[in-house]
Amino acid sequence: MGRSTHLFLLGLLASASPFVSAQSYGSLSPASPGFSVGSGSGSGSGSSSGSSGSSVAASSSQSTIDLAAIGLHTLAKANGLLFFGTATDTNLFNDTAYMQIVNDRNMFGILVPENSQKWQPTEPTQNDFQFANPDRVHSVATANQQMLRCHTLTWFQQLPTFVTTTAWTRATLTAAIQAHIANVVGHFRGACYSWDVVNEALNDNGTFRNSVFFETLGTDFLPISFLAAAQADPNARLYYNDFNIEFDNNKTAAALSIVKLVRAAGGRVDGVGFQGHMTTGQTPSRAAMSAVFRKFTALNLEVAITELDVRQTSLPPTPAQEAQQATDYVSMVGGCLDVEGCVGVVTWEYTDRYSWIPSTFPGTGAACLFDENLVPKPAYTAVASVLAAKATGVPASATIAGIGAGLTGFVASSSSSSSSVANSNNNNGQNVGSTVSSGSNTKANIPAAEFIGNFGGSPGLIPASSVSATSTTNTGSGSSSATGSSSIGNSNGGNSNTGDSNGGGSYGY
Ligand code: G3I
Repeated sequence: MGRSTHLFLLGLLASASPFVSAQSYGSLSPASPGFSVGSGSGSGSGSSSGSSGSSVAASSSQSTIDLAAIGLHTLAKANGLLFFGTATDTNLFNDTAYMQIVNDRNMFGILVPENSQKWQPTEPTQNDFQFANPDRVHSVATANQQMLRCHTLTWFQQLPTFVTTTAWTRATLTAAIQAHIANVVGHFRGACYSWDVVNEALNDNGTFRNSVFFETLGTDFLPISFLAAAQADPNARLYYNDFNIEFDNNKTAAALSIVKLVRAAGGRVDGVGFQGHMTTGQTPSRAAMSAVFRKFTALNLEVAITELDVRQTSLPPTPAQEAQQATDYVSMVGGCLDVEGCVGVVTWEYTDRYSWIPSTFPGTGAACLFDENLVPKPAYTAVASVLAAKATGVPASATIAGIGAGLTGFVASSSSSSSSVANSNNNNGQNVGSTVSSGSNTKANIPAAEFIGNFGGSPGLIPASSVSATSTTNTGSGSSSATGSSSIGNSNGGNSNTGDSNGGGSYGY
């Protein structure tokens, strides 16, 4: 941990002890008490976070730091991550209580439109582009000084009828993809930290998913999409995004091959998004998750957890199920924390009130960090604690009480100063602002350059080699530059494999 991180936490905690009077949401349930600082009690009933090796223990406290008040984004920033965020969308904007948390930049530093940037809503009929809803999401993020992750361009779901019913040729579908991406990415040019350019191209066994894109273009739809996105916004990070690639299986290997395939065709891929739609008790250990991330960062990619939730298989969850969920969340977030090229975490809705899971998998759910009443769960406390622990250098094996003891040192050493201003660097080595602690308020004062998408000239972890796309691939000429050489599964366009289950898979279509 660098000195700037110490100072960041120090500044934060100077005003956070003995209590935080910043925004606080609901009240932590009995199983997820406040975060004890300096009480030395630590006498709670812990729940061991087995797979990660850390223990998420409850503790009674006399004075507590309210982890919900500090906020996940602020804690993530203290670790050098770029963001902790959530999906949201305009259909939820009239829920005032829900929006209060969405709007809290200390909690969420990046927003993702859950649906409104997809192909169907943005181009419902060919060449008729609609941006009113995603513009509203962007406006909210801008007003809150939050970043925007943009989602998604070439995906087999939520397609308009014209895409699924037209009798495409290679040339006409290529042109349609290019027009869609040019218009949508062009509209948001400069606003998006990143774009999920291609989403879910793979079956769970690592072969290519059958879709209108794959049927018509083979694997060429991948470089066609990435080349069009790069042209439309040179500064947005371009991601391949998928689920069930967390388990180091055939699908993981296929995702790696997709990156190579696109780059071999002259395209730019900057990152891979691990959606993280997990099931309790079936999540990789923190170490295993890190190891998978490193396979990708070794290719000069950044990685992120882009749609995190951990669903319960029976409802309502028991305390033991909630403890397991906390463990699983810690494994995922901790795995990201342990890898330098992991830039952040996004939850797929932060509250069970609006999770997509119950309607898709009836009888399951309760997958989010906050319950339906917007009260933080044990999983919230666990995630906030693992972020605080890492930022303060307390060993991952520490209990919450131990972490509290670690924080106490920082609080104590800052006590001579009633207010502090500490600079913080992001993991691109850029100064991203200061923590201003003044009495009752704690805010991470992050300058505008971070959150409005002004990334020009600071490619961060993206190496020059991966953005030196000078060659062009076939974009409608009919030649297939990538299909034949692909080592990924079946690329004959006739693949109707619906995927298999590779140990620990969380969900599939
Ligand atoms: O917009 C229509 C509305 O006009 C209509 O009245 C209503 C009736 O059901 O449907 C609305 O569309 C729904 C849309 O969400 C917006 O609410 C769709 O039916 C529904 O299928 C759609 O579900 C979304 C799903 O993607 C679509 O496949 C979920 O909210 C969204 O959470 C989910 O997100 C995906 C990611 O994009 C990619 N990774 C997996 C993840 C979960 O499936």
